[in-house]
Amino acid sequence: MSAAPTSSAVEASLTALAVSLRGVTKMYDNGVMALGPLDLAVRKGEFISLLGPSGCGKSTALRIIAGLSAPSSGTVRVARHEGEVQPGHGIGFVFQEPTLMPWASVRENVRLPLKLGGVSKAEGRVRADEALASVGLADFADAYPRELSGGMKMRVSLARALVTDPDILLMDEPFAALDEITRFRLNNDLLALWRALGKTVIFVTHSVFESVYLSQRIVVMTARPGRIQADIRIETVEPRGEEFRTSAAYSDYCRRVSAALAPSYSGQSTL
Ligand SMILES: Nc1ncnc2c1ncn2[C@@H]1O[C@H](COP(=O)(O)OP(=O)(O)O)[C@@H](O)[C@H]1O
Ligand SMILES: [Mg+2]
Repeated sequence: MSAAPTSSAVEASLTALAVSLRGVTKMYDNGVMALGPLDLAVRKGEFISLLGPSGCGKSTALRIIAGLSAPSSGTVRVARHEGEVQPGHGIGFVFQEPTLMPWASVRENVRLPLKLGGVSKAEGRVRADEALASVGLADFADAYPRELSGGMKMRVSLARALVTDPDILLMDEPFAALDEITRFRLNNDLLALWRALGKTVIFVTHSVFESVYLSQRIVVMTARPGRIQADIRIETVEPRGEEFRTSAAYSDYCRRVSAALAPSYSGQSTL
């Protein structure tokens, strides 16, 4: 006779999850069915990518996880951050645009979430400088956004997301607007940060190559309303580096993921 899982066993498996979505849908007020139903479980410390065509609901899914948008149905569970004072406290969000305040220094841009959270200016400045050092911008705290390249602005945006020491990092096509070399560098630096900090990362992209390079797991989404088309685990030697990017294993995974993604583009222009 197989025993039903005890409530403590269920509790234990839930505590290993950073995010759990069950039957989540989103219909916008204009009647657009943007998402779902979507079931997704993300383990603590996992690096996953959501991959899908433009308009399939990737940003909608991230906003729902972040608590910035309410689902139309279904349940969303996000593991609470130690010492969490308000929902969303344990989540850092990196948008496609760096969205920096042009009139404020790099340090003040990074300090903003702490300022909004009531952290003193002195402590906020120390923590902002630590976050800037972690993304390689220790020498640019006093610079202004206009003085920075696109890649550096994105690093500032990443530092601002990390400054509250969130458990979960949500990244919405953060490197899509950058040139390829800058993007590769940021990919490597992001992987190094993920290994060092042990955060859960949910990374949205429409690039097969980027998703395979970065992720432990790729969730391929269908065209709108976004559902899960495939869930592919990328198993390779760690830490990843340029040798992985040029390996046969990498090409094989890219082929597999592209094949899983192809039906999501059926009926759309292939350009
Ligand atoms: N605030 C909104 N109101 C109405 N429709 C929206 C809104 N935001 C997104 N949509 C629509 O929902 C669908 C999914 O959008 P989005 O989540 O931004 O997709 P993705 O990030 O995958 O490109 C798209 O068709 C988009 O036009
Ligand atoms: Mg989007």
